[in-house]
Amino acid sequence: MSVKKYCLVLAAGDGTRMKSEKPKVLCEVLFYPMLGWVLDAAESAGAEKTGVVVGAHKEMVEAYLKSRGEYPTFTQSERKGTGHAVMMARELIEEAAGEKADIMVACGDAPFVDKETIENSYRCHKEQGNDVTVVSAILDNPFGYGRIIKEKGQFISITEQKDCTEEQKAVKEINSGIYWFRAEKLGGLLDSLTCNNAAKEYYLTDTVALAEKKGVYTAENSNVVLGANSRSQLSALNKTARDNVLSRLMDNGVDIPLTDGIIIGKDVVIGADTVILPGTIIKGKTIIGKNCEIGPNSYIENCTIGNEVALDNVHAYDTEIDDDVKAGPFVHLRPGTKLHSKIRIGDFVEVKNSEIGVATCIAHLTYVGDSDVGKDVNFGCGCVTANYDGINKFRTVIGDHCFIGCNTNLVPPVRIGNNASTGAGSTITRDVPENALAVERAETKIIENWEKNFKRKRKA
Ligand code: UD1
Ligand code: CA
Repeated sequence: MSVKKYCLVLAAGDGTRMKSEKPKVLCEVLFYPMLGWVLDAAESAGAEKTGVVVGAHKEMVEAYLKSRGEYPTFTQSERKGTGHAVMMARELIEEAAGEKADIMVACGDAPFVDKETIENSYRCHKEQGNDVTVVSAILDNPFGYGRIIKEKGQFISITEQKDCTEEQKAVKEINSGIYWFRAEKLGGLLDSLTCNNAAKEYYLTDTVALAEKKGVYTAENSNVVLGANSRSQLSALNKTARDNVLSRLMDNGVDIPLTDGIIIGKDVVIGADTVILPGTIIKGKTIIGKNCEIGPNSYIENCTIGNEVALDNVHAYDTEIDDDVKAGPFVHLRPGTKLHSKIRIGDFVEVKNSEIGVATCIAHLTYVGDSDVGKDVNFGCGCVTANYDGINKFRTVIGDHCFIGCNTNLVPPVRIGNNASTGAGSTITRDVPENALAVERAETKIIENWEKNFKRKRKA
């Protein structure tokens, strides 16, 4: 029988040095809160229940947690150290103890903890039968971190920077701030903590010296320790994360000839032989197929995109695009848009909350909003669906093989039947039957000799 895994994330710190209205754990790396990175990693490694210790700006942290799912929170109203923070989650620890579970403790402001490190350290924890297993990393510059103190090769304690002797300061193996505890032992260890140290805080790290069975797992990925206390450190984390994402994509066959201005979110999936060109930002839950060309200068958020799609200078949000669609340059695809295959969309076109059928062409200067458009429709230049009357929004429905003449205004609710056409410059306010032409236009009037008469008048 497999043992349940619990997780507790410490997120009570305020992060004054960020100079933000937001708590530090909600500051973003690749457009995603640091706390979210940690929770994702814990969940991907099989944590069944994750609690979060909150303090500064707790309403904001709780609102974020609520947007993701169910996370019990524990309030630490006074910042009295990492050990004290864990004490706040007694209830969760007792529940985990009842399940004979193990509980991982991690920091909400160290986003690069990964699935492999969590799984490998857990395996080490179980194999060694430890009460506590600390994830360590080897750093060239260990300054500021708690040191892993060993005697005759035996791990005995963690000593914080402030409490280190000169000899201990030279130790390059440090505490990453990630731990596995046997839940049944954690309560007792917390009871024994004191604050006899330089910071006068309850150090979670002191549980190591108190525990009977302890071990240390050295992470292969030393980035697991990286955190951010300031905007420049946050920017450094972004650079690291960006490089990692781009390397992973390139390893999977994505073509990124130059990385200038390219930022891609951690969960974005892109198929092989797709080219990403400079100035392109791709974020959220976006999936892009094979053989596409995305960019230059495109912004793609929460989109699902098929194969052989070209998006040049396109902004697309919550949009679904089938295979072999070409859009751009300068196209805005807004939420709720679905583009079927073989569509062509040209410059200065905006599509919102609309479904557009196969092989339809919207080549220039057009707005299509709240519409259902069939296949093989051609929009002339400058067409507009007048979807909003100032109070309500209405849908425009256009059948298959229609020809919407240049500068047509479609005033919904309105339906254009299959194979129908509208004359250039028409404002269509009534349904158009199949195969018909609708024209709404004053006839052209010719006034002869206008130029001569006009000039004479002006002289007089
Ligand atoms: C801690 C470790 C140190 C380790 C380092 C790794 C202790 C005593 N030291 O040091 O060994 O090398 O992390 O980054 O644990 N927090 C609370 N409430 C508190 C104090 C902290 O929630 O009262 C949270 C913080 O928001 C943060 C995490 O705990 O997410 C770590 O706290 P921090 O003050 O950054 O610990 P360090 O001094 O860096
Ligand atoms: Ca820290």
